[in-house]
Amino acid sequence: MPSELEAMEAARRYTLDLIGHLDTRQLETSIVPFLSPMAWDLGHIAAFEDLWIAHRLGGMPLLLEDHAALYDAFETPREVRAGLDFLRGEELREYMDAVRDRSGQVDPSDDGTIFELVVRHEYQHTETMLQAMALAGLRPPGFRDGGPAGGDGLELVEIGAGEAELGAPADGFAYDNERPRHAVDLPAFAIGRSPVSNATWLTFAEGGGYERREWWSAEGWSWKLDQDIECPQSASTGDPAAAVVHVSYHEAEAFARSVDARLPTELEWEKAVLQGRLAGVGSVWEWTQSRFGGYPGFRAHPYREYSEVFFDDGYRVLRGASPATHPRVASPHFRNWDLPERRQLFAGIRIAR
Ligand code: AVJ
Ligand code: FE
Repeated sequence: MPSELEAMEAARRYTLDLIGHLDTRQLETSIVPFLSPMAWDLGHIAAFEDLWIAHRLGGMPLLLEDHAALYDAFETPREVRAGLDFLRGEELREYMDAVRDRSGQVDPSDDGTIFELVVRHEYQHTETMLQAMALAGLRPPGFRDGGPAGGDGLELVEIGAGEAELGAPADGFAYDNERPRHAVDLPAFAIGRSPVSNATWLTFAEGGGYERREWWSAEGWSWKLDQDIECPQSASTGDPAAAVVHVSYHEAEAFARSVDARLPTELEWEKAVLQGRLAGVGSVWEWTQSRFGGYPGFRAHPYREYSEVFFDDGYRVLRGASPATHPRVASPHFRNWDLPERRQLFAGIRIAR
C-alpha cells in the first residue's frame, strides 16, 4: 500500500478509536450551537476526502452529490448543522468506507500534498470532536484537557533583539497561511518559560481576577458580564501543576494585565520556540495577541476557504498544540485561530513582557 494511503488508514484508526466509547445517540447529538454533532464531523471528513481525492484528483463524480452542500463547512455553518439530515449509524460508516475505497483507486504520486491535506484535515476534526466530548463530559478514558505546564508560568526568559526566519520552509507540507517564510526583525522581549498553571490561575481568580474591571478590555468585560463568566472549574479541580485550559482570549488578556504583562505576538512565540527556550510547548494551545492574517506575499493554496476567508475578521492566533492535537499536525509554524470569546478550545496562556 502506498505510504499516503497508509497514513490515511492510520488517521481513520485513530478517529474510530477516539469515538469507540460513544454510542450513536451521543455522536448524533448537538452539544453546543458552536460545535457540530460529532457524526457531522465524521461525514464531513469523508466528504472532504471524496472531494479532493476521488473527485478533484481522480476526476470521478462525487459519491454523494446531494450531500456536497450539507458537508461544506461554508455553505453549512456550525450553528445550523444540528438540525440537518446528516448521515448516521450504518449509513455513515458505509459512506466513509466507500469513499476510502475510491481514494485507493487514485494514484498518490499525482499529488502527494493533497493526500497529506486530507490526512491532516481528519486530525483537525478529531481535535474538534475532542472539544465536543470535553464539553459533554464524554472524554475518552484517561484523556486530560491540559498537559503539564512545566512551571508556574510567571518565570520569564529573555530573547535578544534580532532577525529570525519565521514561517514554514518552502519544501514539505505546510498550510498556505504558514508561508512564505520571511525574515522578521524583533526587538528584545521576555516570554514565559512555561504556560500558566492551574495553581497560578487560581491565585488570579482568588485575587479578584474576575471582578477587577481595570484588568479587562472593554470588549472582554462586557462579554464577561453578558455571559456570567467565572473561573473555569478545572482551574481548581484539575492538577495544580497542569497548564490552565478552557480560558478565552479575553480572560488570557486580563490575566496578563494582572501581572503587568501582555500576550506574546505569534512571531515572538515562534522565534522563542525555534531557539528551544520554552517549556510546556504542546501541553495547551496558547493565545497570542496577533490577529489572523496573511504573511507578506501570502498566496491561497490549494483553495481560498481554508485560511483566507478568516483573515482580518476578529480571529486571534493560537500557537502550540494540546493533548488533543495529533503529533502529525503539531508544528512550530502551525497557526490556529478562533474567536476571542471561545472557551471550548484546549487553550491557555503564556505571558510576555
Ligand atoms: C485550524 C482548527 C481553525 O476547524 O476551522 C477544519 C481547521 N479547516 N476544516 C477549523 C479546519 C477546515 C480549522 N482550524
Ligand atoms: Fe473541515
